[in-house]
Amino acid sequence: MSRVVSASDPARLEEAARVLREGGVVAFPTETVYGLGADAANPRAVARIFDIKKRPVFDPLIVHVGSREEAAALWIRTPPEALRLMDAFWPGPLTLVLPKKESVLDLVTSGLPSVAVRMPRNPHALALIRHAGCPVAAPSANPFGRTSPTTAAAVAEDLGDGPDVILDGGPCEVGVESTVLKIENGKGILLRPGGVPVEELAKFLPVSPASASFGGSPLESPGRLESHYAPRTPLILLDTPLSASAAEIVRWVEKRRREGAAGPRLGFLAFGAGAVPECFAVSENLSVSGDLPEAASTLFQALRKLDRMNVDLIVAENVPAHGLGTAILDRLTRASSGRGIRALEKFIQGDVK
Ligand code: TXA
Ligand code: MG
Repeated sequence: MSRVVSASDPARLEEAARVLREGGVVAFPTETVYGLGADAANPRAVARIFDIKKRPVFDPLIVHVGSREEAAALWIRTPPEALRLMDAFWPGPLTLVLPKKESVLDLVTSGLPSVAVRMPRNPHALALIRHAGCPVAAPSANPFGRTSPTTAAAVAEDLGDGPDVILDGGPCEVGVESTVLKIENGKGILLRPGGVPVEELAKFLPVSPASASFGGSPLESPGRLESHYAPRTPLILLDTPLSASAAEIVRWVEKRRREGAAGPRLGFLAFGAGAVPECFAVSENLSVSGDLPEAASTLFQALRKLDRMNVDLIVAENVPAHGLGTAILDRLTRASSGRGIRALEKFIQGDVK
């Protein structure tokens, strides 16, 4: 197992910064999720990140910086829209994608001509980057395609002895990854909804969604791959609150029981205070009061918990599509690979495994 040390101990933090400087790999807390960091200018160290995560090299990394100047030094030009966004949201969960200088490693950007940069606001992350004295390339600290970790224990569980050090800074405040925004000709292209709601960004520049096609066109932001963020247990996402379909679901389960079959063991991922029918063996609630920031901060931990409870299927309730709800829905939609209530019906009837 990697060494887990407290991020609040200045001596340990200094030591982790030295590990980064010397080409090691450090898992560290940010306000969004835990990152798996290496010196962005050290190709061998960056290669280790891909190796530890089993991440395909076509998926580029975000470079984490300790100041705006450090960000500007990675981009060919920092346009006025970027400056305004940095003033408004940095440090914080916004990643900006702009054309890169030649000096930025192709391994970091997967050969793309642009580089994604963010300045985290978690004080341990900022202190680590500043002590290391170099920009830090860091994806989320999970195996590729899996749920992002929001605690040091989750990192240790997933990556074992991969990182040289795991800095424990407690649970992450925001709980979903940063918003990734590409800036082009004064406009924003949303590559990933995240910790800064798109409504907030739209106050500063016109923002359009990235085109949805992955097929023929080059992958603009490969993290948008459909199957991302998946727990091991299959998941389906209801497109309504549970109350709208609860009666129907109960009927399917009862019919199956009348036929003498045990039926699948179902887990429920709830949002809000609605009652959960007993056909669900276990449930986790993202926010009983229906608070979206609270739901974002508990999302990945709740998924991990349900994943450990030996259920055959996780059924996730819908959340409102605004504010942080957009990021939550994005993660749940990907985890579900687009499966909804019809898939649930088939699953209960035993047609789908
Ligand atoms: O909150 C976060 O962003 C966390 C913490 C650790 O900072 N990091 C994170 O990294 O979520 P990762 O690697 O799991 O997701 C980075 C996303 C991916 O979807 C990747 O494809 C996209 O950013 N990305 C990175 N560089 C890009 C680039 N040059 N152009 C387009 N998309 C890029
Ligand atoms: Mg990730």
